[in-house]
Amino acid sequence: MAGPIVETVGVTKIYNRGKPNEVTAVKDASLKINEGSLAVLKGPSGSGKTTMLSVIGCLTAPTRGEVVILGKKVSKLPEKFRNQHKRNHIGFIFQHFQLIGDMSVLDNIVLPLLPEGISPKKRNKRADRLLEQFNLTHRRHFKVRSLSGGEQQRVAIARALINNAGILLADEPTAHLDSKLTGDLLDYIRQLKEAGHTILITSHDPIIYQNPMADQVFEMKDAHIISS
Ligand SMILES: Nc1ncnc2c1ncn2[C@@H]1O[C@H](COP(=O)(O)OP(=O)(O)OP(=O)(O)O)[C@@H](O)[C@H]1O
Ligand SMILES: [Mg+2]
Repeated sequence: MAGPIVETVGVTKIYNRGKPNEVTAVKDASLKINEGSLAVLKGPSGSGKTTMLSVIGCLTAPTRGEVVILGKKVSKLPEKFRNQHKRNHIGFIFQHFQLIGDMSVLDNIVLPLLPEGISPKKRNKRADRLLEQFNLTHRRHFKVRSLSGGEQQRVAIARALINNAGILLADEPTAHLDSKLTGDLLDYIRQLKEAGHTILITSHDPIIYQNPMADQVFEMKDAHIISS
């Protein structure tokens, strides 16, 4: 069995610390995700899933505790190196995709590569491979806002893969999808898992957390991980 590729040790995240609106969104959460595994973080609304995903994905720093990605203690790294580590190893699929409607499919997909200083030619070559893989080549220059929901979903997945990240994080990816698109998404997740990606999904959708593909299920309640 492969070892952990993602680990959190006693992670606590407090928003608005010391203010009247202080919220402890995650409290003393420890988990280990094995390389190549499909892990699901489930729990009721407000239990801290998105916060946990954001901390693991280096989008926000924990108030206390440590996040270890590929053996590196990321919360201890200077911001520049933490961002670099994130860009090299982590891809995100957001709940509402967070695509830029006024930009083309191609420009949306290469967006995560812009801080990398990779030549446009190289960027486009990588993107073209993904456009083909996700059957979007004919939509390359279309504005994202003109695409169907399924096409937008594929653009979001392609963008998450553009940096060749081994670790993919998806926040409620089936929310707002009909059953056809949910089925398609599960197919993509299966392919990504077979290709060796480690995937962490937050979801309160039983089609995800009861899915036979899920190797690890962590349950959150009131900011705590209560079971795994
Ligand atoms: N940026 C923020 N500032 C202040 N409080 C926040 C922030 N983000 C989340 N919270 C609070 O932290 C708690 C956990 O929120 P979080 O979004 O992590 O929950 P969740 O499990 O993802 O919920 P949902 O299933 O509804 O998406 C909630 O009480 C929320 O109001
Ligand atoms: Mg959430």
